[in-house]
Amino acid sequence: MRPEASDQDSQPLVVTSSSEARLWTRSSLSRQRRVALVPTMGALHRGHLELVRRAKGLADDVVVSLFVNPTQFGPSEDFARYPRTLQEDIAKLHAEGVAMIFAPTVGDMYGDRFSTTLNPPQVALPLEGEFRTSHFSGVCTVVLKLFQIIPAQVAVFGQKDYQQSRVIIDMVADLNVDVVIDVMPTVRDPDGLALSSRNRYLSAADRTRALSLSRALDRVEALYRSGQCEVSVLQDEMRHILDEASVDAVDYAVIVDPQTLLPLSHVLSPVTFQSSPKPTRPTTDDAVAVALIAAHVSGTRLIDNRLLFKSRR
Ligand code: PAF
Repeated sequence: MRPEASDQDSQPLVVTSSSEARLWTRSSLSRQRRVALVPTMGALHRGHLELVRRAKGLADDVVVSLFVNPTQFGPSEDFARYPRTLQEDIAKLHAEGVAMIFAPTVGDMYGDRFSTTLNPPQVALPLEGEFRTSHFSGVCTVVLKLFQIIPAQVAVFGQKDYQQSRVIIDMVADLNVDVVIDVMPTVRDPDGLALSSRNRYLSAADRTRALSLSRALDRVEALYRSGQCEVSVLQDEMRHILDEASVDAVDYAVIVDPQTLLPLSHVLSPVTFQSSPKPTRPTTDDAVAVALIAAHVSGTRLIDNRLLFKSRR
């Protein structure tokens, strides 16, 4: 293992063992360097690279984990065929000037006798929690393990997995984990499709149908901004757009509380449009609601979301 963190020109260190990754991180921290962790399952796309760039702005050394975590996939899900592109991922992270890549095998992460799992927080129960029952237990378990192995000061996640980000924020608060969670807005292709490693499963025709998710969210945001605050009307509109595009199934298309993800009782807070003095990065804390969709297109499960703000940003 190299003793020093790498700079932009040198190859990032690729580590598979958790003890080596922990040693490297501790050495970096002991030299008063700020460390940021970007947990991923690899198959990196532009969205991941934006997380890395964000992390670089927050820390001296960026660590990226590449690990397709088996415990967060259900028995009928795509664990076996999930894209694994390690060499391409390493090359992309090299170009981004990442200091260390943690790429363990399943055996490195979960020994033969592994049996401790985490019971995720309440916010894990609705929505994804209903359709992917053990998913967030697997996510919490692996993310907490990653935080133990790489005790970074900050960890960056994408808003694309909105419920996941809320689950991790609550887990960190509940278990007093000493890490700041930073959530980056979703990165999209020019046509509006939220970037996802699973988009590579979509044919051109599938993609046209998949675009109905972002179109439904655009419509909801526009309606809300024009004063439509009835949750049922907004939800019906999303359903209508998804049905019209003939997606194969809709798991949910809902407007819920942005923190608890529980249904909103009647109407959202009234819209009061104000112009912001300077553009700021919207945060969940400023949002009055979040619109969330999960839908299936030709065997690919897609999720997307949109925060709704009381005032225009
Ligand atoms: O968002 C993901 O890619 C995964 O759920 C995560 C956070 C890396 C845990 O495996």
